This record gives sequence, C-alpha cells and structure tokens, in this order.
Amino acid sequence: MSTPSRQPPHPDVQEVLFSEAEIAARGEGLAAAINTDYAGLEIYFVGILKGAAPFAADLLRRIDRPLRLDFMAVSSYGSGARSSGAVRILKDLEEGIAGRHVLVVEDIVDSGLTLHYLRENLLARRPASLRICAFLDKPDRRKVDVPVDYVGFRIPDHFVVGYGLDYAERYRNLPYIGVLKPEVYQG
Ligand code: IMP
Ligand code: MG
Repeated sequence: MSTPSRQPPHPDVQEVLFSEAEIAARGEGLAAAINTDYAGLEIYFVGILKGAAPFAADLLRRIDRPLRLDFMAVSSYGSGARSSGAVRILKDLEEGIAGRHVLVVEDIVDSGLTLHYLRENLLARRPASLRICAFLDKPDRRKVDVPVDYVGFRIPDHFVVGYGLDYAERYRNLPYIGVLKPEVYQG
C-alpha cells in the first residue's frame, strides 16, 4: 500500500486543534518530564477509561521507569456535552495503592469535578505520592480547583473530540483533536 494521503477532517469537525504529529511531539515532552520526576521510582500508572485510553497507551510506551498499569472507569457525564457533577466509580483499581507512586492519566480537565473526586478518593488509600497528568485542560470551565501536575495543552472553552474524547460515545477513534461543530450537540 502507498503512504496514505492526509484525509480531510471528519465532517462533524469544524477545526483540527492538534494534529497527530503535534500530539506525538507533546507526548514526548510529557514523557520526558515524567521520566525525570520519577527517577528511581516505580510508577503505578492509572488510566481513566474510556477517554484517556489512547493517550495512556501512547504515553506509557514513552516512559522508561518501572511501571504497573491499571485502569479506573468513572462516569461524570451522561451522553451530553456538560457535566452533571455526579461522579460514580464504574471500575475500580485491581490493586491497593498504599505506599505506591500513583500517576493518574486523564484525557481532559473541564469543570475539575471528576479529578477532584478521584483525587480525594485515591488519597484516602494512602499512596506514597499522587500526581495527575491530563492531556487537555480547559481552565475557563473550572468549578473546583484541582492540582494538575502535567498538562498536554491548555485550550479555550470548545467542545473537542478525538484521540479518545467523545461526544455521545462517538469520535473517539479520530487520530487528532478536533473542535466539534456546535450544531452536532445543539441538535
Ligand atoms: P470534568 O469533571 O468536568 O472535569 O470533566 C471531565 C470529563 O468530561 C472528561 O474526562 C471527559 O470525559 C469529559 N469532557 C469534558 N470536556 C470535554 C470535551 O471537550 N470533549 C469531550 N469530553 C469532555
Ligand atoms: Mg466522555
């Protein structure tokens, strides 16, 4: 097969914010910082399903520290574009994290409600340390303060999809981050 040509974005996407190449370059930078900060430590790497799955998979392959992989699934949104504020654990960790160096890997921080809840919940389990890495951050939408140690990109208040992020469970497979056309979620 020949090299695939660059496809136009999905018709529901109004603008590509970060291309595959930009995502990869930023991932390298994040991994470099994590590798430095965790020198001599084993990382308990916690991907937050489902949105962070592609980011987590890319990131962990760039980490050259000893690492254990686990996942949590939480639900803070229905299928809509705005948070309800209620957080539920749908899938918990497989192992205890007491005394471990936990790195939570999330797709996006929006209101902060999900990560605030997760952080409190995980801190109660007495890890040796707890840090948060989010691929995207929408600071304008923050309702509750949550310390995010590693941020891929800060973005304005747009609803974005792709690279794991969905709207109503769609678009997670797009290889770039795109701004969803408002008419798609405004009906
Ligand atoms: P928070 O609790 O409001 O910070 O929301 C975090 C979760 O909301 C993320 O893990 C995403 O699943 C979802 N979310 C927030 N903003 C967006 C977006 O722009 N596109 C897709 N999902 C989003
Ligand atoms: Mg979601």
